Parts: sequence; C-alpha cells; structure tokens
Amino acid sequence: MKPIVAPSLLSADFGNLEKDVQMLNRSQADWIHLDVMDGVFVPNISFGMPVIKRVRQLSEKPLDVHLMIVQPERYIHTFKEVGADLLTVHWEASTHLHRTICQIKEEGMLAGVALNPHTPVAGLEDIINDVNLVLIMSVNPGFGGQKFIKRALHKISELREMIERNDSEALIEVDGGVCQDNIADIVSAGADAVVAGNAVFKAEDPEIAIQNLKNA
Ligand code: DX5
Ligand code: ZN
Repeated sequence: MKPIVAPSLLSADFGNLEKDVQMLNRSQADWIHLDVMDGVFVPNISFGMPVIKRVRQLSEKPLDVHLMIVQPERYIHTFKEVGADLLTVHWEASTHLHRTICQIKEEGMLAGVALNPHTPVAGLEDIINDVNLVLIMSVNPGFGGQKFIKRALHKISELREMIERNDSEALIEVDGGVCQDNIADIVSAGADAVVAGNAVFKAEDPEIAIQNLKNA
C-alpha cells in the first residue's frame, strides 16, 4: 500500500510560501503538515494561526496540523476556524487527553495524538478506539532536518499490533527524519502516513521527491 505523504511546511521557503503550496497542490502529496511550536513545549517557535489561515486559502489538500504546544485544548476552536482538517496534540502536553480528543472531533476535525520518542506506546491503550491518528515522533520535536531514531520502527509495529487487537481504525503517522532510505522500513513496520520536511524541500526537485516517497 502506498503511504499517505504529508510534506512539512517547516522546511519550506517562508519568503514564498505561496509558491511552495502551489507545488504541493500539483504534487502527489496527500496532506500538508503544519508544525506549530510555542517555545515552551519545544525549544523552538515556528508559526501560528495567520500563516495556517493563508495556507488554507492556497491549499487544495487537507491540512494536518501538529501542535507542539502546552495546553493545546485552549486553541481547538481557533485551529478549526483557521482551517485545520486534522489536529494532533501531544500526549505529554495533555492532562485530560480524552476530553481534548472528544472536543477536536466535536469541532468536526480528525483527532490525533503524538508521542515523543521516550513515551511508550502502551499509554495509548485506553484511548486507541477514540483517536483517528497516532503520530509517532521519530525525532525529538522542535526542528526539521534531524536524524531518524531507529527505535521508532519498533514502536510502529507495537502500535499496529495494539490497533488490530482493539479493532481501532486509527492511522499511524511517522514524523521526523523520514527519507528515501528509510521509508520502506517505516511502511513495512505498519505506518499509514509519513511526514517529510527536509527530504522534500531540500531536494533538487521537491515534486519528484514526493513522488519517490509515495512510490518507495
Ligand atoms: C519536528 C516536526 C517535523 C519536521 C520534520 O518537530 O514535527 O514535522 O518538520 O522535518 P524532517 O522531515 O526534516 O525531519
Ligand atoms: Zn510535525
């Protein structure tokens, strides 16, 4: 099965986002991945609502918004308003994760939960039938262009097994250090979707890079 490919705009040209979004519209990308960072949950600050709102106007693809922020429940409605289709919060940042997941779905978005590299998959057992997507971080969140942490492959298989055991329909998405060299292993471990920042935007031809990831 071909993976869902979600290029991350974090590695795009912020001086000309329109050009990059148009390239994604033409490409085989399935979703556009948007990394929101608050400088508290992660040691970096990226972009927020006005940027997403503009990308929504330009994009023909669904927006996959990854919140790396503390207390994400404060902004669920706002991210719906600016155009998120899928909203992912971090397990580590959510005290009342079940409530947050329900609120995201009540707003009409798909709900995702992200796990940092040190967070065990087992912590999802009681929520696996409520989420639409689990995002396995294969780098420590905060920056693009880092090296894939191999242990993530084991977590993907473990999660796949949990999803099947529970008859869950959750998708598995993998984020961080994904490239042409490791995508086949990621997909055979059980991933449905991959995020790719540098592997797309630092490539000589980003459209071809997306096509290659899609068909790896
Ligand atoms: C990292 C972000 C990623 C990042 C991926 O915190 O969540 O989405 O943009 O970038 P690459 O693919 O370059 O590792
Ligand atoms: Zn991300």
